[in-house]
Amino acid sequence: MKLALTVNGERRDIDVPPNASLLSVLRDDLGLTGTRYGCGRGQCGACYVLADNRAVASCLLTADQAARMEITTVEGLANGADLHPVQQAFVDEDALQCGYCTSGMVISAVALLARDPKPDETSIRDALAGNLCRCGVYGRAIRAIQKAASPA
Ligand code: FES
Ligand code: FES
Repeated sequence: MKLALTVNGERRDIDVPPNASLLSVLRDDLGLTGTRYGCGRGQCGACYVLADNRAVASCLLTADQAARMEITTVEGLANGADLHPVQQAFVDEDALQCGYCTSGMVISAVALLARDPKPDETSIRDALAGNLCRCGVYGRAIRAIQKAASPA
């Protein structure tokens, strides 16, 4: 089926099978591989993207559903060479190890700060509840999000 997605502010015309997931379209058709495949079942957060400014699992969303939303992937957060403040804070706080979960965590953090610019630690933990990290960088990720919310 032919669809027009809005991804990172650009219209992208695609022709995909009827139940193609947004995740597969992003990675395989649009080359946006910063969004990761983890579980494919909505349980790990590696595939999170912003859909109308909410963090959602792109493995559970069909491309057809996504065609009615504004989609932002981790590639769409930076402003040219300038990283998004959340991305920069993750770098500054060394809030990654293998990095597999990082784009999903960053997306969760960006969605959180959009609805709650000064979240407390409980809110940050809640926002990251869907993001599994095998390397266990949660403490540093929380500090990074706190830093992004209250830059020095
Ligand atoms: S790959 Fe989508 S939540 Fe795990
Ligand atoms: S940094 Fe390795 S899974 Fe999170």
